[in-house]
Amino acid sequence: MNSQQFFEALWQDYTRLTPQAATIQQLFRDDGNSIVNDHVAFRTFADSAISLEQLEPHILGLGYDCFDEYRFAEKHLRARAYLPRESLQPRIFLSELLWAELSGESQQLCKAFIDQIDPNCVTNAEVFWIGRLWAMPHWSDYQSLLMESEYAAWLSIHGLHANHFTISVNVLKDDSLNYVNDLLRAAGFALNTSGGLVKGTPLSLLEQSATLADETMLTFADGDQHVVPTCYYEFAKRYRDDSGKLYQGFVADNANHIFHSTDRQLH
Ligand code: NI
Repeated sequence: MNSQQFFEALWQDYTRLTPQAATIQQLFRDDGNSIVNDHVAFRTFADSAISLEQLEPHILGLGYDCFDEYRFAEKHLRARAYLPRESLQPRIFLSELLWAELSGESQQLCKAFIDQIDPNCVTNAEVFWIGRLWAMPHWSDYQSLLMESEYAAWLSIHGLHANHFTISVNVLKDDSLNYVNDLLRAAGFALNTSGGLVKGTPLSLLEQSATLADETMLTFADGDQHVVPTCYYEFAKRYRDDSGKLYQGFVADNANHIFHSTDRQLH
């Protein structure tokens, strides 16, 4: 599978879970823009058959190099960012949950999911949209994870999928987050307001905003159905550093706020 086939299949899976994404792309096209994706992001469990180390060879095999590493102490995550060596494909941001840092109860829940993973599922790049590799959790276990780690709760019910795609604001006809946010709000999309509508500043070389995740109804192990968040769309504007080089990395403080895009909405 080459990187173009990879991203086409990934996009199909993502828009199935996140119908707003296709509508948003069309909204920007109809306003006279061409669409380039800045990055896609994935969530997974550390110390498992689908850990960052296990998944990384597929990313390298698609023509990418790792260029930076991140640690989100408060959210118990670590992450790596990858740049394509030649193609114009999006950057890849792969994070993993350091579940051994969670409470005993959450650790037991994560361990139970991980123990069910068939290692043979990880042998090709299609693993990135394979979904849940363990039985659906009970609603009470999902709620318990949610109290401690929204990331763990999201991962427990969805498994592996693109958590978000991100439109590059730099190539839009008006390359400002204000233009993006105004167009989205006028079309009725709800935005992530954690840390303000725009996360980051030109000084930090990266500004981002994001929609709130779509929602879907899932059946939990108890047989009960509940509405849960799926995935969201993100927007990123990159600035040039003092040497004139376009910033390629990610900013932990922005990401901390962006992670709230999959928080459960109360309505
Ligand atoms: Ni992102």
